[in-house]
Amino acid sequence: MDRAKRLDKIPPYLFGEIARLKAGAIAEGKDLVDLGIGDPDQPTPQAVIDRLCEAVNDPETHRYDESESGWPVFLDAVSRWYKKRFDVDIDAKSEAMLLIGSKDGLAHLCWAMIDPGDVSLVPDPGYTVYKVNTMMAGGEAVTMPLLEKNGFVPDLTAISTDAAKKAKLMFLNYPNNPTGAIASLDFYKDAVRFAKEYDIAICSDLAYSEVTYDGYDAPSMLQVEGAKDVVIEMHSLSKTFNMTGWRIGYAVGNKDVVGHLNKLKSNLDSRQFPAIDLAAAYALETVSNQSTLDLYTRRRDILVDGLNEIGWKVKKPVASLYVWAKVPEGFTSAEFSKLLLTDAGVLVIPGNGYGEYGEGYVRMSLTVSGDKDGDRMAEAVRRIRDNIKIDWK
Ligand SMILES: Cc1ncc(COP(=O)(O)O)c(C=O)c1O
Repeated sequence: MDRAKRLDKIPPYLFGEIARLKAGAIAEGKDLVDLGIGDPDQPTPQAVIDRLCEAVNDPETHRYDESESGWPVFLDAVSRWYKKRFDVDIDAKSEAMLLIGSKDGLAHLCWAMIDPGDVSLVPDPGYTVYKVNTMMAGGEAVTMPLLEKNGFVPDLTAISTDAAKKAKLMFLNYPNNPTGAIASLDFYKDAVRFAKEYDIAICSDLAYSEVTYDGYDAPSMLQVEGAKDVVIEMHSLSKTFNMTGWRIGYAVGNKDVVGHLNKLKSNLDSRQFPAIDLAAAYALETVSNQSTLDLYTRRRDILVDGLNEIGWKVKKPVASLYVWAKVPEGFTSAEFSKLLLTDAGVLVIPGNGYGEYGEGYVRMSLTVSGDKDGDRMAEAVRRIRDNIKIDWK
């Protein structure tokens, strides 16, 4: 049976390949320390689960969500959360909409904004969804390299005038996947100025804004004066409250862009199960996930301190779920990831899976199944120390 040509534009899904490698090792009976996918291993806070159970018992939640842009209780909670967290005013009726996880919003934004011949500016390395959906919508994804020397923040002056003129969308993602980098409000100000100059909408992907350590507070791009003229920000409860499987997120910001996305999505899906919206609203209003952040901090310290002791120079991120490490000289990302998997039983993700500028790095996630207070991280370090006998340069 034939299928649409646009599907040919999709490169193999990164985690699909990793999943196959992992399945092979497990089939051989190997015990892997899995630092691959960034999916919180801790349960959703019990209070949120209890609120869901209560909401499920309310027959009002058993119906379609026929609201304009998302269950109002949820969008009101989003608006209050933005005020409390960032001191940003969001009108719940016109500047916010519900998403079935932020991936839904990021992917469909391309379909709502990009025509054939249009450009979107995408970070490289970066979350692959921005690029793939731009390409499927018939657009061109122009790379903004994230270089270590620039703190993994794009150099806006390096974007060609031609690409900037053709661009309809720019994606930014801080705290960043995969590099763990953060961005300052000053950078956001520059980005807003650039977007206004070239009439580009910026999509700020804030999926990791609440996954922060050592007292670091990630800013929202909407804190920049005038940002609402050009910015749509996407957020998710996935990493904030260990709710990846629940599929709940939201977009806030520029009314027109939110409206375009909402128009598209109103013809694609029928929103989320309202009981999930109610539990998510409750999470935003009342729940703290500090114990999970404390656990990630312990794991980060065990991993990064341990690797540095071995001689692998690795930096500590203050946000995100990821440690982004340069591979030792003489290896590609893929070669080194394979070596760690086969010789040490430690699964990491080769950086080139996130784009050409990810080559030379690997990503290690702080979410590790079966870990008790850092014991699997310590095991990862021990295995690398004992089994990988190379010159760590
Ligand atoms: C940078 C980034 N944005 C968005 C998402 C999507 O998260 P969700 O769809 O669960 O909200 C992810 C998931 O890993 C991510 O890494």
